[in-house]
Amino acid sequence: MRVLVTGGAGFLGSHLTDALLGRGDEVVVFDDLSRGSVEQIDNRAKFEQGDVRLESDWERICSDFVPDVIHHLAAVNGTRRFHNEADLVVDVNINGTRNALAMAKRFAARLVFYSSPESFGEQESMPLSNDSNSLFTPAHLHQRHSYGSSKHIGELLCQFEVRNGLDVRIARPFNAYGPRLHGNADGQVVAMMMQANPIVVHGNGQQTRSLTWVGDIIDGLLILTDKDELNGQAFNLGSTEEVTMLELAQRISNLRGVEIVFGEPNLGDSKRRLPDLSMNESISWKATTTLQEGLAQLR
Ligand SMILES: NC(=O)c1ccc[n+]([C@@H]2O[C@H](COP(=O)([O-])OP(=O)(O)OC[C@H]3O[C@@H](n4cnc5c(N)ncnc54)[C@H](O)[C@@H]3O)[C@@H](O)[C@H]2O)c1
Repeated sequence: MRVLVTGGAGFLGSHLTDALLGRGDEVVVFDDLSRGSVEQIDNRAKFEQGDVRLESDWERICSDFVPDVIHHLAAVNGTRRFHNEADLVVDVNINGTRNALAMAKRFAARLVFYSSPESFGEQESMPLSNDSNSLFTPAHLHQRHSYGSSKHIGELLCQFEVRNGLDVRIARPFNAYGPRLHGNADGQVVAMMMQANPIVVHGNGQQTRSLTWVGDIIDGLLILTDKDELNGQAFNLGSTEEVTMLELAQRISNLRGVEIVFGEPNLGDSKRRLPDLSMNESISWKATTTLQEGLAQLR
């Protein structure tokens, strides 16, 4: 199978690329390297540097590679950036997705779109299901939801094209963690806590997350890539093992022997993100790696 992976130099995209190559697929990685890195791309994949916002870059890359499947992961990610770079987040996440859909239509390719539990905003009713409403707080308070609302609009654009006959599947990874996760100031929680000294817990630390081992998510993504008759379906790729951010900090502090301090709450942080998994019956997927097993592999 010929697979185009946008954002394939990043955390999830590079793991996905490894898995696709491992089973014999032909893979082209399309990434602007704004957050990903070339060292993360297996050299059996062809790398094309480009910007998913530019139609000309899509044209160039697809001029000699007609994909059977497009995995569209390229997006601006990293919690702090959602408020600080809201304009860029909207531009890349929405216009990149419009271009991905246009190319998928042109080549009648299957598209896997990467949404997020943040597409539900600050919805407090759990678990998050395909019938949950998205709830966004007023825009003047902060712009954190540039990201979640861009993912919501991405899902909306996908469903629009499904109505027009395109084969689109939507994956919502729930706080994936594992090797290569970004741990700098604009990074994601597990890797940040693995690197920071002292470990900073934002707010009171009672917010929970359903942290999901990257290997489990990749298993689900391969099923989504292959299985027929999933068009228009969205899947929560998340663990149901919830952990408070304070408890996570304590576990990682015990592993590393470093102190914990409390910092400012993150704007618009959701209290919980628990996935409903009933939609996953059709792909027979659930996470099998416990947090304890996952963290042990990161030491
Ligand atoms: N990691 C998670 O837990 C998680 C959870 C929910 C959703 N997602 C979604 O999964 C996808 C991958 O996430 P990730 O954690 O691997 O993030 P990441 O930041 O590691 O990867 C994103 C990649 O996209 C690239 N990129 C950014 N802007 C681009 C542009 N304009 N043109 C081309 N490439 C560009 C970056 O260089 C990077 O390599 C994203 O769409 C993200 O929103 C991730």
